[in-house]
Amino acid sequence: MQIARTVPEVRAAIQELKKRRGDEEATVGFVPTMGYLHEGHASLLRKARSENGIAMLSIFVNPLQFGPNEDFSRYPRDEERDLQVARDNGVDLVFLPDVSAMYPKTVKTKVAVAEVTDLLCGASRPGHFDGVSTVVTKLFNIIQPDRAYFGMKDAQQVAVIERMTEDLNVPVQIVPCPIVRESDGLALSSRNVYLSGEERRQALVLSQSLQLAEGWLAECGGDYRSVKALIEAHIRTSPLADIDYVEIMDYPSIRPAYDLPSTELEGTRLLIALAVRFGRTRLIDNRLFQI
Ligand code: PAF
Repeated sequence: MQIARTVPEVRAAIQELKKRRGDEEATVGFVPTMGYLHEGHASLLRKARSENGIAMLSIFVNPLQFGPNEDFSRYPRDEERDLQVARDNGVDLVFLPDVSAMYPKTVKTKVAVAEVTDLLCGASRPGHFDGVSTVVTKLFNIIQPDRAYFGMKDAQQVAVIERMTEDLNVPVQIVPCPIVRESDGLALSSRNVYLSGEERRQALVLSQSLQLAEGWLAECGGDYRSVKALIEAHIRTSPLADIDYVEIMDYPSIRPAYDLPSTELEGTRLLIALAVRFGRTRLIDNRLFQI
């Protein structure tokens, strides 16, 4: 497995890999991450490995997508362990730039996707999605992958990136992949490491409420405000849970389902999305429903 830390190095390594295989047409499957890899990332790497001639991973904690009071400096990092996960999952090349390799100059150009970013994490974390779409655009331009793999735990991020690549004609196929959960239901996240034992136990209320939501959706028909209220009440049964948002959205447009006439929702997907703090840790989870 090769490691490249600069843009010229990674570009040369991709060319070299294609040449060495005698296959200039080999597809590149790319998994962009911020590191501290878990089984969710590993599942993306395995899919990229199985569907492409070349499997690539990037690890870059992108300062542009963190707000001033967020966890950029304490975001968990473990390069050695990440490289072992990459090796174990058949990665050919890891791009591991530092901030100066990605942003050698003050950033004057940003990529911003309108509307899809207005609500949910876009509202709670101003500027977050501009940071994500800017770094993902840069990574796509540097690596020029054929396919890029993203976990649906960040469902709004997937909607934003799909829209950005469509609007800008970026020649890459976005492959959304299912959420990976612990056996007790907790969605895997690099941030789970911040949780105390009690916070982790109470955080199970997120996946539980998404499971219960299936029945509530059936009982309440199109009355999504009642479903939202039932979910909020269930989450509040955990004393440590501090709700940031509970929303029911049309997906992938990320418009509130309550405000849409039912004719506009038919045949589309509903996203129930949750963001809840346990102590200093903000967790997100979601579930998609076909309606
Ligand atoms: O999902 C993430 O880990 C990040 O938002 C991404 C897509 C790697 C961009 O920094």
